[in-house]
Amino acid sequence: MRISVCRKEHFNAAHRLYNPGWSDEKNEAVFGKCNNPNFHGHNYDLVVRLIGEPDPDTGYVYDLKKLKDLIRENVINKFDHKNLNLDTVEFKKLNPTAENIAITIYNILRTKIDDKYEIKITLYETERNFVEYPY
Ligand code: NI
Repeated sequence: MRISVCRKEHFNAAHRLYNPGWSDEKNEAVFGKCNNPNFHGHNYDLVVRLIGEPDPDTGYVYDLKKLKDLIRENVINKFDHKNLNLDTVEFKKLNPTAENIAITIYNILRTKIDDKYEIKITLYETERNFVEYPY
């Protein structure tokens, strides 16, 4: 009997979407406002979903307090109030799109959470634009 348990967190961060192999014109055409050389911020909403079976003793799939602490220590503390391009090792060479941020968060948490749980990441870059990984 598998069920999802979810924790929602929030961070804000600045970024610039940019492909160094392209001309300024092409970057502007592809990335638009997100290509602003002086960066800009987003208020990211993050949902981490763990899928597993409730433990027969506790009735919990996973202690959500523990999940909250894991996300805060390993993701929020790393990215909140940061310039993703300049302040983080993860996005020094990786374009900080919502897609790449979600995959990066997944990879960080995957090393911290037992393999018996499936993990799904939903990352909202705006109220209307969000990505899910794995799809
Ligand atoms: Ni942007």
